[in-house]
Amino acid sequence: LDNGLARTPPMGWNTWNTFECNIDETLVKQTADLMVSSGMRDRGYTYVNLDDCWMTRSRDGNGNLVADPAKFPSGLKALGDYIHARGLKFGIYESAGTETCQHYPGSLGHEQADATLFASWGVDYLKYDNCGSSGSDTQQDYIRRYSAMRDALKATGRPIVYSICEWGNYAPATWAPDVGNLWRTTGDITNTWSSVDAIYHQNVGLASAAKPGAWNDPDMLEVGDGMDFQEDRAHFTLWAAMAAPLIAGADLRSAGVATFSTYLNPDVIAVDQDPLGKQATRIATGGGLDVLTKPLQNGDVAVVLLNENSTTRTVSTTAAAAGLPAASSYRLTNLWSKELTTSSGTISANVPSHSTVSYRVTPGTGSSIGTAHPIQGASSSR
Ligand code: DGJ
Repeated sequence: LDNGLARTPPMGWNTWNTFECNIDETLVKQTADLMVSSGMRDRGYTYVNLDDCWMTRSRDGNGNLVADPAKFPSGLKALGDYIHARGLKFGIYESAGTETCQHYPGSLGHEQADATLFASWGVDYLKYDNCGSSGSDTQQDYIRRYSAMRDALKATGRPIVYSICEWGNYAPATWAPDVGNLWRTTGDITNTWSSVDAIYHQNVGLASAAKPGAWNDPDMLEVGDGMDFQEDRAHFTLWAAMAAPLIAGADLRSAGVATFSTYLNPDVIAVDQDPLGKQATRIATGGGLDVLTKPLQNGDVAVVLLNENSTTRTVSTTAAAAGLPAASSYRLTNLWSKELTTSSGTISANVPSHSTVSYRVTPGTGSSIGTAHPIQGASSSR
């Protein structure tokens, strides 16, 4: 959507993956504080997003949505102020039907009133779900319902990132780029490798639709939610290569060093946030071994070697296959270990099970990235 927003994929945190409906203002404030103290905000995690279940079961006498006073006794304007005071932005959730997925009142037919209310609370981001609509909806119905909220948000005059959450129905990559800043391409993610890997397969072929202001959304991150360390890092690396929104889903209050070190990796974040705005394409696949390449603004290419098997395998490609110009040598910077190597063209690694090895590849002998950055605020490991 050409509204000047999300010129790189949005980054932030959302309540749903860990907390579902068990949300309140204390959780959100503590998380906002942790996003600052851990260094996440300064790495680009800007949006603090409420998901479903923030409201009461019915609208008030004027037809307005009401924040649940038991969960948010200070109200959402105050919560937005708290978030903004920390240099963060405030996100909220609604649905393009008569009710949300958890049966709270939806926005269908109330788009302008709800958008105006959100703007009055200082909302900067709306995730707009697809529950409570007619089961017989066509693609045209989707476009109509989602466009109505796009237009309502625009009419508020407030810059609000518009996240379309319609689960990949009716080929959103063909229509959603003009309607929203991002659109879900799949069903809901869970904290398992099989879910992450299946969603990766659904999203990886959609690269041509992604561009600044308009991103495929393979759902929020499960890093720190129970997968093992390699799987968490592979998940994060694949999402970054696919120029996906990086919306953390972990409980940051109990997250350890391993979780923060994954979320904070500046070189993987830089791949996701590269201003060229290209989603990686898959240049090789077979036997559970994939190679992804993502062209970057400065002429470097990010290369991801993925092993989906249950044992270590060697995954190989070449600089030419990755789209790099001919050169007598290439500098490979490992995005996780920070190890620098020189190659005459082969890009190859032993990749552990359910894992990736990823490089930033520079023609010639220079390197475009720095050394590892310290991690602030991360305490115990888990
Ligand atoms: C379905 C969405 O896909 C999830 O991300 C979450 O927003 C739930 N609905 C909330 O009910």
